[in-house]
Amino acid sequence: MRANKLDRWGVAWPWAPATLLGFAGTAGKNAPPAGVQLPPLPYDLNALEPFISVRTMSFHYGKHHQAYVDNLNKLTTGTPRAGQPVEKLVQETCGVAEQAGVFNNAAQLWNHTFFWHSMKSGGGGRPAGRLLEMIERSFSGFEAFKSAFVEAGVAQFGSGWVWLVQDGALLKIAKTSNADTPMAHGQTALITCDVWEHAYYLDYQNRRKDFLQMFVDHLANWDFAASQLK
Ligand SMILES: [Fe+2]
Repeated sequence: MRANKLDRWGVAWPWAPATLLGFAGTAGKNAPPAGVQLPPLPYDLNALEPFISVRTMSFHYGKHHQAYVDNLNKLTTGTPRAGQPVEKLVQETCGVAEQAGVFNNAAQLWNHTFFWHSMKSGGGGRPAGRLLEMIERSFSGFEAFKSAFVEAGVAQFGSGWVWLVQDGALLKIAKTSNADTPMAHGQTALITCDVWEHAYYLDYQNRRKDFLQMFVDHLANWDFAASQLK
């Protein structure tokens, strides 16, 4: 259950964290509408400029992320899956062909929320403490890790995600296609970059490598990544 970790993300959630991760609306006059809600961004739409524009954020968060929320609600309303936590939906529908629509939209809802928290204004630089130690132990140094992360994102064919995940005492880089997510497979994600074209095309056109390099140099939120370590 990730609900307890939300407080460590440092976000002023307007509703209970569990609700934002996919529980149905709670009772009471201030409760949000029933169904999964679009989690609020942890910063303003222009916070990541000049590296990610307001225009990109408006489409990516306001249209794409919102569409996953809306589609998931359409698919689950009136079914036993209505009101279930997003993580539960993802893990229970992974690999189930007739539930592919629920999986894709629930996983993309979760992935995008994780992505927004993987970035911050004034990010990049170097992590510190235990996270830096684990990166240096796992990748022959922080610069080698950054290069490997960027190259993995470039090498992901088509739409998908590149991740830093924890595997026991070591860290690994993982690629996933389309909506797939390490969380569905029991892995602990620490940070991610979205490499679907909608994440970067308005600002970087086809230069995915430039986008990934910008992510690790200027936006990566290492405090968030460290907070996810087990
Ligand atoms: Fe995206």
